Parts: sequence; structure tokens; C-alpha cells
Amino acid sequence: MRPGIALPRHRATTAHLCSAYPFAAEVGLGVQGVYLCSNLLTGGGGFAFDPFEAYAAGIVTNPNMLIAGEPGVGKSATTKTFIHRSVGVFGRWAAVADPKGEYRPLAESLGMTVIKLHPGGTSRINPLDPGPNPPSDPTEGVRRQADMLATLLGTVLRRDLSPVEDAVLSGAVQHLNRHGPGVPTLADVVALTVAPTPEMVPTTVDASDLARSVEAIPYALGKLLDRSMRGMFDGPTNVAIDWSGPGLVIDLSAVHHDSEALTLVLVATTAWLQNLMATPGGPRRLQVLDEAWALLGTERTSKYLQACWKLSRSYGVANLAIVHRLSDLRSQTDDGTAASKVSMGLLADTQTRVLFRQSTDQVAEAGALLGLTSTEAQLLPRLVKGRALWKVAGRSAVVAHTIGAHEKAMCDTDAAMIDQ
Ligand SMILES: Nc1ncnc2c1ncn2[C@@H]1O[C@H](COP(=O)(O)OP(=O)(O)O)[C@@H](O)[C@H]1O
Ligand SMILES: [Mg+2]
Repeated sequence: MRPGIALPRHRATTAHLCSAYPFAAEVGLGVQGVYLCSNLLTGGGGFAFDPFEAYAAGIVTNPNMLIAGEPGVGKSATTKTFIHRSVGVFGRWAAVADPKGEYRPLAESLGMTVIKLHPGGTSRINPLDPGPNPPSDPTEGVRRQADMLATLLGTVLRRDLSPVEDAVLSGAVQHLNRHGPGVPTLADVVALTVAPTPEMVPTTVDASDLARSVEAIPYALGKLLDRSMRGMFDGPTNVAIDWSGPGLVIDLSAVHHDSEALTLVLVATTAWLQNLMATPGGPRRLQVLDEAWALLGTERTSKYLQACWKLSRSYGVANLAIVHRLSDLRSQTDDGTAASKVSMGLLADTQTRVLFRQSTDQVAEAGALLGLTSTEAQLLPRLVKGRALWKVAGRSAVVAHTIGAHEKAMCDTDAAMIDQ
């Protein structure tokens, strides 16, 4: 017999039980949403979540989700099962940016389109695409394209653009939208900045200085057009989007080993997806960014991601970003600097946080960043694989995620991860 105190069986209504045993279990989040298995804080009751249902119920004020945890603790597996059930059962539409190339089995199981971008490959996306629903104000479209290009250039050059570079870049985008034969491409922008038209150049710039003032633009954009990214972004989009299907996976594993290239590719892909997803109507959409830390490294890219999230909110898109350490959110900066403030803004736009195991040195950071209680923060290093602390606005759950028998193969990154 197991040791312990033997108590007489007691039967009561749930209303009476919660008075008799306060603080022992909590009410949970309700049953609306994707079933993810059990919540240990409700005594092992079921746990279900759907960002759109949580939004509709007023539990959260935005549908975005952040998933954090050390490598190998089940972040991607949970995301895959979540998408599998969300798309398969609820009919959601999902777009996944997949830097490790590990979502293909999920895509095959659901019938999602897979776009594999690799140097010299046959699939190409144009980050300057306005998408199926371009903004009614053309200057807004030009602004979005110029912002994206400035983010790409700033990432390569590791600095902000000079006023002349900024003016020539915006001028080039404007010129191409006004006079170009179709949607501009990165190659068109490079060609035009090598030989800017007089109207693109601020009058204050001396013609003899011009070439030197803007020579960095073609060099930096050229990075996206040659070598490790050749053929991925340098022409019109040549992949078809099936809106009646379950969604798409963009396999970026060809550049995963090169962190600078990965950041650039993620900016270009996020830009393309943002315009694609900014379409009213249709099914509720999820936009998933695995390995999102690659976009949170600098103020520039964090800000860009934040702007994309803000825009997608008005079109009913839920963003789901996966990071490793919570300190990823502070970028590589000291406290209080611009980059960490931007990341904090991103965190404020993400009211659902799913926290898998963190190393002990992250506990203080996690507690401070996310406003965890000391018990919650201390729990983080003790979570085993597959278990996570869910913080949904003010509510908490400790969830043991279960992978279904038919989902095992699509989640197994130990054996099936294709790392090229
Ligand atoms: N809840 C779970 N139950 C059983 N195995 C799991 C669970 N979550 C993850 N795994 C397994 O652990 C391995 C690593 O998981 P993964 O999600 O790829 O980690 P991460 O994305 O956090 O680096 C995978 O092979 C996966 O199948
Ligand atoms: Mg992963």
C-alpha cells in the first residue's frame, strides 16, 4: 500500500469543493480551442487553446503567441501539433517560415504547399510583391517597400542609411512603381540605384558626389542576389498560392547555417508573407516564424518584425514566434537601449507566452521580463521535455503536451531533421 494519510471519501459540488480546497486547483482557460493535452494546475484537466477564441472571449487583447525554450525541449513539436490540429480541425490557414526545413512532413500530412528556396533553385519569391490586396493609397505601398529595403540594407551595412541613400532608395521605389512595366524586383532597384534618374536625387547632392554617396546600396542589395541567395529573391514571384488549401511552408534550410544570410532571408520572407496575409476575409490565418531569434538580434530587424505584426493584426492574422532564451528578446544590447525597448514592445504585443525549460541563468530575466511569480520563474529550469508554462494574459497553466501517434513522425527532429 502507498504511504500517506488515508482520508475518508468526500463528495461535494464543485462550488463547495473550491471553498473546501482553495488554491489547490484553478479553473483553467475553458474548452474552446485546439486540444493540447493536460493542464497540471487544474489537476490534470484538459487544456485547449486557440488565439482567436481567446481574443473573442476577451482573455487576450491580441492573438500573437511567443514560444520560448532551450533547444530540444519541444517548441517546434508543440507548434507542429498545434498547427496540425488548428488547420486540420478548425480549418485555419497557416504560413510557416521554416529555417531548419523541418515542417515538410507536417505540410505533406495536411497538403500544404512547400516552397523551398535555395540558391539556383526553381522557386522564387519577390519581397516587393504588393500581395493580393495592395494598399489603396499607393504611397503606403511605396513606404512599405522602402522600409523593407532599408531594413535589408541596414542589416548588411550594420548601420542606418544616410539621408542621401534613403532618398535615392525611396526615389527608386517610387520611380519603379510609377514607370515600371510591372511589380518592381530587387534587381530593378539595384539597376536604378547604380544609375539614378535626376528626379530621384535630392537637389542638395552634388552630381560628382552622387556615385560615392549611394555606392553601398547596390553592393548591399547585391548580397541578396548573388552567391548564397542567388535566384531566391531576384525576379518576379513564380510560386502559386492556393488560398483554398491549408496554407504554405517556406523551407529556408539552405541558408540556416549562415546567420547573416538567415536574417536577410527572414526579412525578405516576412515582407512577402506580410503582404500576402494582409487580405481581408477568408479563414483565420496563423503566421509562424520558427527560429525567430534571427530577427530579434538588432533594433532594425526587431522593429521591422514589430511593424509587420502591427499591420497583420488588422487583417485577423495571429503571429507565432519561436525563440530560445528570453534574453534573445533583449537583443545583444544593455538594458534600456533602443533595441531592448523595441523587443519589449514586441513582447507587449504578445499576450500568450508559452515557456518551455530555460536554464537557471535565465530565471531572473524571465521573471523580470514576463512578470512571473517567483514560483513560476523557479519552475522554468525544472520543466521536462514537452511541458511548458503557459501565460495567457494574467492566467497560468502548466501544460504537458502530447504528440499523437500519427503526429510522431512529423515532430521527430532527432531523426528526421534535414539539416543541409
Ligand atoms: N511532448 C513531447 N513528447 C514526446 N517527445 C517530444 C515532445 N516534444 C518534443 N518531443 C521530441 O523531442 C525532440 C525535440 O523537439 P523539438 O520540438 O524539435 O525541440 P525544439 O524545437 O524545442 O528545439 C523531437 O524529436 C520531438 O519529437
Ligand atoms: Mg525547433
